[in-house]
Amino acid sequence: MNVKEELLKELADGEFVSGSVLAEKLGVSRNAVWKAVRLLESEGFVIECARQKGYRLSPDSNRLCAEIIEEATKGNTLCEKVIVFDEIDSTNSYAKELASKGAEHGTVIVADMQSGGRGRLGRSFVSPSGKGLYMTVIIRPDFGISEASLITSAAACAAAEAVERICGADVKIKWVNDIYINGKKICGILTEASFGLEMKSLDYAVIGIGVNVRSSGDSFDSELKKTASSIEEETGVRVDRNELCAAILNRLEMFLERIETRSFLNVYRRRELLTGNEITANVGNEKIQGKAVEIDDNANLVVITSEGRKLRLSSGEANLCRIVQ
Ligand code: BTN
Repeated sequence: MNVKEELLKELADGEFVSGSVLAEKLGVSRNAVWKAVRLLESEGFVIECARQKGYRLSPDSNRLCAEIIEEATKGNTLCEKVIVFDEIDSTNSYAKELASKGAEHGTVIVADMQSGGRGRLGRSFVSPSGKGLYMTVIIRPDFGISEASLITSAAACAAAEAVERICGADVKIKWVNDIYINGKKICGILTEASFGLEMKSLDYAVIGIGVNVRSSGDSFDSELKKTASSIEEETGVRVDRNELCAAILNRLEMFLERIETRSFLNVYRRRELLTGNEITANVGNEKIQGKAVEIDDNANLVVITSEGRKLRLSSGEANLCRIVQ
């Protein structure tokens, strides 16, 4: 680690540290500390400098930073190594490439912007610079293959709880994996898995989470703006992306550890938007209409169709019926 990286690590908790303490800890002169501060500032970090107190990383800094995320996730096995990119095509694609070459459990890829962010069902995920949190975690779980289908729902619970803790809003989950505030989507999740030979075990999975943190400006077209928004637009709360990333990872570890107990489903059910409502859904090539009655123990959406058929939907997309007046 060079002086700049070591300095970031020392400042990662957001507390003031005096120049002389930093110089001693880093084993360099105070002038070298000052130079490293300037270097960080030139990279976009906002560093406050106060008489008698020293330096601290400003809460207004909008830079993603591996050192800060690592500091806030100490002891979390999902966070062994954090890699931050200013720009990437897709954190999921990169994570899959790394995982196929043997990257370890707990490798986290975070990007400030994605040029080819991917969503579910072959859609794209608009990922402008400085506006969102685009992250992917590589996991090599030891749980059984029957739990693999629950990973996305567990991740949805982790993201919903983390967002709620940070912004204080009532955060909902729309089956299967979208996170909503005030009826607008603010986060989506794309999990991609690779199974071992004979499909008996999960080799690895990459869990990609995209959160719209600030207003995307013109990056979202008018159609997307009808259904999607951001945490800051919906709540007015200024969100620190490093803190949000760490909060998601910390909850995700907890939910994945206990995935076999399915206890996270209580969180999921409490927050789910469709249950109890008339919905439409695409099942294969068929469009069905019915009432969403529950989320079952495999995180399927149970629907009673208008003709009285009981269906368990494991994937796809469902929407609330629009009330035609
Ligand atoms: C969806 O809403 O359909 C899922 C969106 C998932 C987006 C995230 S952003 C980080 C990761 N990288 C990607 O390319 N996609 C996921």
